[in-house]
Amino acid sequence: MTPAIVIDSLSKNYGTVEAVRNISFKVQSGEIFGLLGPNGAGKTTTIRCLCTLAKPDGGKIEVGGISVLDHPKAARRRLGYVAQEVALDKVLTGRELLALQAALYHLPQSKAKDRIAELIALLDLEDYADRKTGTYSGGIRKRLDLAAGLLHKPEVLVLDEPTVGLDIESRFIVWEFLRKLQKAGTTVLITSHYLEEIDALADRLAIIDHGQVIAEGTPSQLKDRVGGDRVTLRIQEFSPIEEAQQAKSLLEALPFVEEVIINHSQGNSLNLVVTTGSNCLSKIEQSLMESGLPIFSLAQSRPSLDDVYLAATGQTLMDAELAAASSRDLKAEKKQQMKSS
Ligand SMILES: Nc1ncnc2c1ncn2[C@@H]1O[C@H](COP(=O)(O)OP(=O)(O)OP(=O)(O)O)[C@@H](O)[C@H]1O
Ligand SMILES: [Mg+2]
Repeated sequence: MTPAIVIDSLSKNYGTVEAVRNISFKVQSGEIFGLLGPNGAGKTTTIRCLCTLAKPDGGKIEVGGISVLDHPKAARRRLGYVAQEVALDKVLTGRELLALQAALYHLPQSKAKDRIAELIALLDLEDYADRKTGTYSGGIRKRLDLAAGLLHKPEVLVLDEPTVGLDIESRFIVWEFLRKLQKAGTTVLITSHYLEEIDALADRLAIIDHGQVIAEGTPSQLKDRVGGDRVTLRIQEFSPIEEAQQAKSLLEALPFVEEVIINHSQGNSLNLVVTTGSNCLSKIEQSLMESGLPIFSLAQSRPSLDDVYLAATGQTLMDAELAAASSRDLKAEKKQQMKSS
């Protein structure tokens, strides 16, 4: 079957910034595919190239077998795009805004009216459709953006960080809607820097970092590839460092323990990687008890997508975001200094 999306060796530079470097991935028809990556990773750039809003410097992009570069109009008909940030005209009502969008898509007026009513019902927007969009909350606005992206019944819906800044409940509404859409046959490509969002929604994902794909697969495959379960334990709520070090030495001697790290910022708790499948919790408890170190708390979990990210890049996604933020701050500071000098 022809994939819904093919991105092959895509590159895009902004001046000297290599926003996207040789990215390749395929999205199969009917899948929810996630693009996960920290701020500045190249998610929006990739999506803008796919949706014909930016011109790649190299590579191929296809939607349903059609080359986006050679046939942009035909590709656009197949694609719905929900942008990361939308500047809504605040004085129009939701329904008026959808009508305006429908005209941009050249939908005949009679058809547009029915389609708009259908989408308003589908996204539970009846109570809001005839109010000015300036009065909408973030969650309602996002639902209107989704409706706008779906007006022309695209085969593929592309969403750029659709739940950023939304509260948990609004986020769940968007997730549920995307699952419903998938059941009805639409392919979904979603970018996010929320690990739990991609974990919950995506059939497959690609992790991108500094403009490159660093891992690709189903969430389960990627977690299995990292290997080992995680165990978090505390001797006390806040253990003295000597006590944590003593526990670390004891635990490192156990045959199923692969790695022990003392987490100083979490009250000297201990993070362990253990061989998957071993019945390790009772053995850990017994070993520490025998040495006079009773356990305050103990929990085992499978690797998370954050562990996948950590294994691929050597830092957590959160640390990558912080690094990106501070580099942005530095750049802004430099610019300001240059202006004032
Ligand atoms: N129009 C532009 N001009 C110059 N540089 C740009 C432009 N758009 C993006 N970039 C740069 O390209 C890189 C990738 O940006 P992009 O917006 O694709 O990342 P992102 O993964 O979508 O990040 P975020 O999570 O913050 O939305 C960044 O270094 C960014 O600063
Ligand atoms: Mg972005």
